[in-house]
Amino acid sequence: MWIKGARILDPASGLDSLGDLLIEKGRIAGIYPGGHESEPLDNVIDARGLWALPGLVDMHVHLRDPGYEYKEDLYTGSLAAAAGGVTTVLAMANTNPVNDNASVTQYIVERVKEIGLIRILPAGAVTKGQLGKELSEMGLMKLSGIVAVSDDGRPIESASMMRRALEYAATFGLPLIAHCQDLSLSGKGVMHESALSSFLGLPGIPRLAEDVMVARDLTICEDLKIPLHITHVSSRNSLAIIRHARERGVPVTCDATPHNLLLTEARVTGYDTNAKMYPPLREESDRMALIHGLSAGIIDCIASDHAPHAYDEKNLDFDVAPFGTIGLQTLLPALLKLHYDHKLDLLRLVAAATVNPARILGIEAGSISVGGPADIALVNPEATWTLSEEVIRSKSKNSAFLGMQFRGRVAYTICRGRIVYQG
Ligand code: DOR
Ligand code: ZN
Repeated sequence: MWIKGARILDPASGLDSLGDLLIEKGRIAGIYPGGHESEPLDNVIDARGLWALPGLVDMHVHLRDPGYEYKEDLYTGSLAAAAGGVTTVLAMANTNPVNDNASVTQYIVERVKEIGLIRILPAGAVTKGQLGKELSEMGLMKLSGIVAVSDDGRPIESASMMRRALEYAATFGLPLIAHCQDLSLSGKGVMHESALSSFLGLPGIPRLAEDVMVARDLTICEDLKIPLHITHVSSRNSLAIIRHARERGVPVTCDATPHNLLLTEARVTGYDTNAKMYPPLREESDRMALIHGLSAGIIDCIASDHAPHAYDEKNLDFDVAPFGTIGLQTLLPALLKLHYDHKLDLLRLVAAATVNPARILGIEAGSISVGGPADIALVNPEATWTLSEEVIRSKSKNSAFLGMQFRGRVAYTICRGRIVYQG
């Protein structure tokens, strides 16, 4: 297959040039900046006017399968990812049963192979049942295909468990992804704690709930000198703690979500439960700190925290609805919005959802390189569109971005050399 005339953007190599791509047997066989003279007749995508990016790597996704397939399953999650230009996802372990043993991992790996659309890599739980008491069978799960461990959805409450978990995961070369939340501080909170939460009469989640856990985990990380990844950083203070740790050489990486980068607590006014998630949407000063952290390279990755919930679950009073917003399909559009609205460097933004998460997870993905997998998102950078329920491919429609206008739309998604989505 030829892709002719695209603007090829590959942050791993720094390439930003018009050119052609040749794909053979699921791999990239040639990259021709400036174009190749061949005039093939079939199997050509005329990509003039389109941008060719590496297929996105979303390192924080809840696909609900096994156990909560009424919210999402591995098939509908694959469709949503493909429609969003995402070709690799890390599927979090808070399924039912929890992915804390090799038989659950094997189920996911086999089901994903049957579906055959995009790459879904499972994360294993850190602790059995994500209960924080006993370490999970990380070694056996790794043999079955997990690429990281995380109790995401819940924090690891005990510092000693976090310390042992980080050491144990490292013996298998598995990155650990930390969801930082001190439950005694987040309490019954349902939105960011502020003047607005008082005004709305909703219990708040203070920044501190995140900050103290980030500080604890970084202290452990610094002591052990074992890499740690902190997911969904939302508080300006957490970010400052991470920045100081990085300056001391602590091996910490982190990500932020598109919703924390593009929205604030103001979105909660009106009590729309699609704006309820953990961590919560915070204040403009937090959002600006995140945007600055991204452009300064302190935030390594953008990951969606795609968290589908059924209509009937979200259609409840704000304080009882579940936490979460979907985001697979809007990851790439959100990234382009950050480029257009905040003038963030395009290659750096693309890196945050391709090569950076791939490096942290230690997987072969996230770049356009000869011999590498042919995972490519072709984007029409000018198309403007509005997110409505009709365009959402996920089983659940609970997006905090419903009604938002985006500029830039996925035209084709190619995974392992196959077209898995055509817009
Ligand atoms: O909003 C969230 N939803 N935050 C989490 O940490 C978990 C996730 C979920 O699984 O629904
Ligand atoms: Zn989480």
